[in-house]
Amino acid sequence: PAPLKVAVAGCGVVGGGLLSRLLPDSRFEVVAVLVRDPKKKRDVAAPADLFTNDVDAVLAKKPDLLLEALSEGEAGHALIRRALEAGCDVVSANKQAVARDPKGLQALADANGCRVAWSASVGGGSPMIETLRAARAAGPVAGFEAVLNGTVNFMLERLGAGATFGDALADARAAGFAEEDPSSDLEGFDAAAKVKLLSFEAFGRSPDDLPRDVLAAETPLGEAPVRQIGACFDRDGGLDASVRLDGELEDALFLSLNGERNALKVYGQDGRVWTCKGRGAGRWATTESVLADVADVMRARRAAAELV
Ligand code: NAP
Ligand code: HSE
Repeated sequence: PAPLKVAVAGCGVVGGGLLSRLLPDSRFEVVAVLVRDPKKKRDVAAPADLFTNDVDAVLAKKPDLLLEALSEGEAGHALIRRALEAGCDVVSANKQAVARDPKGLQALADANGCRVAWSASVGGGSPMIETLRAARAAGPVAGFEAVLNGTVNFMLERLGAGATFGDALADARAAGFAEEDPSSDLEGFDAAAKVKLLSFEAFGRSPDDLPRDVLAAETPLGEAPVRQIGACFDRDGGLDASVRLDGELEDALFLSLNGERNALKVYGQDGRVWTCKGRGAGRWATTESVLADVADVMRARRAAAELV
């Protein structure tokens, strides 16, 4: 079969990982790479003529699949919409883009006969969306709790071991865990977007807004381990959601998480509990998660082609 024509949006931690996997793979033809600055030096060896900052030029290449890993929510959302409108399948790692309107994006994909997936946008390499879907398929969900931000988890561990706030943040950035603007991690916006996406899977809708605890240099941290917990529960039809810093946890799963690891617990209304954990951030964990969605999209494309 002819190679799949793929456009990649973003060439940072995630986009660079994707390119280094796609470029040598004969199943794919990378047709364009969208960035802000096409002249910037990159840590991936890709032909210079692939790089552009022009969305029209990317779509003019008529990609079959867009892999969206931009660091800006609004630009990512607009790009995903344009790609779906053009009949292009989309896989996104950008939670701030897809959490804006997951229902609308899914409807747009359906209306245009294409697929959209965003597993990597929640939990990095841990299969959180898949776990929630499995729980949901087994019966109604009462709610979920999760450690959803690798940067904050990594920093809390470092701070607990005596590191300064500045050093802990610098290490999280150097490891490729933090957002381009790390206030998104520290002020809970990143975890809040992930709560919205998990809530969409659990309940078919997302909370509009949720209270967030902020991790800052002056945040008092006691002797006991602290975790940032994102949660959402159905309370008589209303969604009770939050992102909080919890220093009184007794939960063995959450307390076991070191470094950038994430974990999820889903509570069924019948008392059953589903869990998963894994690497929540970083180039390779996220790249593998995007590629798992790509494999699903390719299977769906093949199945659709066989029906014709
Ligand atoms: P990053 O290293 O900061 O890279 C972001 C890329 O987006 C850069 O190449 C940048 O171009 C490009 N970009 C941003 N705004 C753009 C715009 N308006 N037009 C064109 N290009 C634009 O970010 P990252 O860590 O790869 O993360 C990418 C996305 O994946 C984010 O949404 C993040 O939340 C998500 N994610 C990250 C991880 C992780 O561990 N890093 C894990 C899961 C999900 P320039 O290079 O020219 O500036
Ligand atoms: N900045 C995010 C985190 C990346 O630290 O969890 C993964 O979504």
